[in-house]
Amino acid sequence: MCGIVGYTGPNPCVEVLVDGLRRLEYRGYDSAGIAVLSDGDISVRKSKGKISRLTDLIAREPVSGTCGVGHTRWATHGRPSDENAHPHRVGRVAVIHNGIVENHRTLKERLLSKGRVFCSETDTEVISHLLDEHLDAGMSLEDAARRTVSEIRGSYAFLAVTDKEPGTLVGVRLNCPMVVGLGEGEYFLASDLTAFLSHTRDVLFLEDGEMVVATPDGIRITDFVGKPRKRKPQRIDWSPVMAEKGGYRHFMLKEIHEQPRAILDTLAGRMLPEEGEVFFETLPLSDAQLAAVRKVIVVACGTSWHAALVGKFMIEGLSRIPVEVDLGSEYRYRDPVVDEGTLCVSISQSGETADTLAGMREAKAKAATTISICNVVASTVARESDGVIYTHAGPEIGVASTKAFTTQLAALYLMALRLAQARKILTPKEIALHLTELSDLPRKVEDCLKREGEVAAVAKKYKDAQDFLFLGRGISYPIALEGALKLKEISYIHAEGYPAGEMKHGPIALIDERMPVLVLCAKGESYEKTFSNLEEAHARGGMVIAVGTEGDDILAGKASDVLYLPACGRFARPILEVVPLQLLAYHMAVLKGTDVDQPRNLAKSVTVE
Ligand code: M6R
Repeated sequence: MCGIVGYTGPNPCVEVLVDGLRRLEYRGYDSAGIAVLSDGDISVRKSKGKISRLTDLIAREPVSGTCGVGHTRWATHGRPSDENAHPHRVGRVAVIHNGIVENHRTLKERLLSKGRVFCSETDTEVISHLLDEHLDAGMSLEDAARRTVSEIRGSYAFLAVTDKEPGTLVGVRLNCPMVVGLGEGEYFLASDLTAFLSHTRDVLFLEDGEMVVATPDGIRITDFVGKPRKRKPQRIDWSPVMAEKGGYRHFMLKEIHEQPRAILDTLAGRMLPEEGEVFFETLPLSDAQLAAVRKVIVVACGTSWHAALVGKFMIEGLSRIPVEVDLGSEYRYRDPVVDEGTLCVSISQSGETADTLAGMREAKAKAATTISICNVVASTVARESDGVIYTHAGPEIGVASTKAFTTQLAALYLMALRLAQARKILTPKEIALHLTELSDLPRKVEDCLKREGEVAAVAKKYKDAQDFLFLGRGISYPIALEGALKLKEISYIHAEGYPAGEMKHGPIALIDERMPVLVLCAKGESYEKTFSNLEEAHARGGMVIAVGTEGDDILAGKASDVLYLPACGRFARPILEVVPLQLLAYHMAVLKGTDVDQPRNLAKSVTVE
């Protein structure tokens, strides 16, 4: 969850670290800090709150050096405060950490009994004390780190520096991401590559159980017992500009508007419309292997879980393979039935979500074939699965997921067609019709975006609502969930997504003249039934906002407001329906004055269980 960055090289590091932290701030923003090796000492500057507070502090109390570490925190152990902010300096060492040291209590008791004094409530400080203890005993930083990892349990990626070895940066990874950036005589270590994309695009991904030692002379990767590990550098094609706001007020708005391009990139090179075929270069499964699949399980969290729910309709509808959908946090604890005929699809924008990863590992251990749908190249989920379908959305910085979601849906649509093709459930002609539907999507999403002004007007009308109900049926039900999640997370308005047909079994009691009810009622297989539900809400005085198909004038007679979408087929519909819902949440949040890109209590990647 936390963002970590480190630098060693010939250049002043404070700018590099602070700039890296700004790009990582979406991972957590409870506090921020840096530690820099300067003049034979370690200088620490840290502060509760956002990075702007840290930069104010650095302006008041400047620091300089060419080797250091920086951290932006999402609090797990210990409240957000100056004391609990990282780095944690103890004696001659400073540490930043992402993850959880599960046995920190036992270790702390032992260290306290030796007379050591703790200054924070964090689990991280235990790592600093252990390193310091081993440095005191005469070990090098590398050996001290190796000894420390043999003592701690849990999930962690930490970076350490010591004034005993100026210019040396040690990084360790277990179940939390860490990537190494390779510059000219300079090296970057970070929780994700956006931290240093403006300096280098040549990277190495650290694996679990590995340690990296970086100095301006080079890097060395070993396992936890010191055995060298070889790794080939990779060139990343994300450009630094992709991680900038590009004139938009917020990253979220920029990312909503990037969707036509992102969907286009996700489809590009994977469709042969004339042959009626779909193929994925990165999916090493033959037609025979795909045809042998008896059951698909899809594991994901949050917005990616909503994509999974839509994926169930796509996969079952197109390839006729039964699909189960699970939340990552639930899946591994329910002792699922899995065999060789099971295909586990994990969906994750970041590819680092701990619950999703745990679910995928559980399925793999039980003999499933695993594939993932990920946005971040070479992320842990992507690397550990047997095959990966990358969504080419580019870096998503806004904590509220938008373009990652619609590209996941586009990838799932393609994947469902690929399964149907391998199983010969659809003819090439039928597949070609779906490919036309997919090819039309970027333009149709663009059409939805052109109606932003209408959505903003609706947002203005309902901005003071205390509660919101989102209703959808069938493949649109997960979009109702997603609309409610977007509104909750960025505007802090209580919202619920419900299957439209279930309303009369309970939630209808909530409806009165103060309750806005957004109904997903575009033309399609369940239009009439959903329209009846809309009428039921209208009859009870609810303020109905309908999302419908262009030209459907009847809706205007029953709904207070209508947001229109271009006509489309069943499986493309969710991708269009979600766009006005994203814009509605965005504009309501802006009107309420919340922190759109960094909503309270949230973090972009949830790397703890
Ligand atoms: O990186 P992932 O897709 O695995 O993340 C899963 C969820 O944490 C994420 O979708 C979260 O729900 C977003 N904040 C939703 O906007």
